[in-house]
Parts: sequence; C-alpha cells; structure tokens
Amino acid sequence: MVHASARNFRIRSPKTSIDKLAASIRACERCAALVKCRSQAVPGAGAIPAEIAFVGLAPGRFGGDRTGVPFEGDRSGELLRRMIRYAGLESVFITNVVRCNPRDTAGRNRDPSASEIANCRDHLAAEMELAQPRLVVCLGRIAWRELAGRERPFTPGAAKPTIARGLRLWPMYHPGYVIRGAYPEKSYRRDFARIARIVRAERFEPPD
Ligand code: URA
Repeated sequence: MVHASARNFRIRSPKTSIDKLAASIRACERCAALVKCRSQAVPGAGAIPAEIAFVGLAPGRFGGDRTGVPFEGDRSGELLRRMIRYAGLESVFITNVVRCNPRDTAGRNRDPSASEIANCRDHLAAEMELAQPRLVVCLGRIAWRELAGRERPFTPGAAKPTIARGLRLWPMYHPGYVIRGAYPEKSYRRDFARIARIVRAERFEPPD
C-alpha cells in the first residue's frame, strides 16, 4: 500500500492535504449501491501524523453513517474509544476499509463486496500516507485481509507486527466481536495495553 520509501517522505502541508482528501471521500460516488443506501461517506479522522491507526470495516448504521465520524455513535465505537482511552493512546487516526455503510435489501448492515473494497482502496492508501502511523491496527479479518493480504492468517495475539507494503500491521478483534461476547473485554483491554507498550517503546527506539 504505502511503499517503505514513501514512509520517510515529508508531507509539507498535511492538514490541507487531509482536508482535501476527506472532501474527495465525502464526494465519492464510485459504488452505485452504496451511494443509494448510505447517509453519507465517512472519511478517517484523528491525528495527522499519527502514532497509531485503527482500521475498521465500514461506518456503522447507528454510528458513522449518522455522525460522519468513524466509530462514533454506536456501541462498537464506544468500546473502541473506551479502550483507546484506557490504554492512554493519544496520537490516533481512526478509519475504515470502506467509507459507506453497506446495507442489504432489508436495511441491515452487510459486509462490503470485493468491488466495494477495491473501489475504496486508494482512499485508505492516501490516508496512511498522510498519517504515517508507526502501527496500523486491523480491526477484524476483513481489514486484516485487505492490508496484510489473503496469504497471511488473521492471528490476534501475534508476538510481533507483520510488515506488508511498508506498513506495520497488528491484527486485533473487531470491537463488535467483543460486544457480541465472542471475546472477553478483559482480554481486549490487555491487548490494548500491549499495543500501547509497543507504540511507547518505539518513541525511543525507531522501528526496523
Ligand atoms: N463503525 C465503524 O466506523 N467501523 C466499523 O467497522 C464498525 C463500526
């Protein structure tokens, strides 16, 4: 996604660039089905540059689709933001693989299709280039597959980050999975404390 050499590239005016990028994401009409069912397209939000980025799946029906901010306004967002605060993470950028809320014909959340994911790929690449995060936390399998590639298994609890396309990736369960009771919140808290330790250690020791 972001080539290793691009990570050292100094961006002269990140604020202007992220605002322009956000405006182009909000105006995006590449996916006819999503344009019909979304309330709005939701760009990433947070610190530029950022120490850590969280990448979810798509804005939630009761969250980003209404508020215009990823992981804000729904239970997944509440849990994610509580964990970020608990871990003391401050320099954070939050975004999604897909920027529109995908719904089925009954109006329920559905997974984005392969073409919807592909249509949004350059938005994510551009955000990562501007945010230059030291660690990218992939929330759930789809975010992991998109950034790490299909060939790398999704293994939350891995010992060290995976490097792919110039990004240092960390697999983590999606907060929705924790809300459904499939993974204990206590373990999730421990996972967040762990990524905070990694990010803090790297303030003093540059990543390889
Ligand atoms: N809200 C988001 O922004 N992304 C998700 O993946 C889920 C809820």
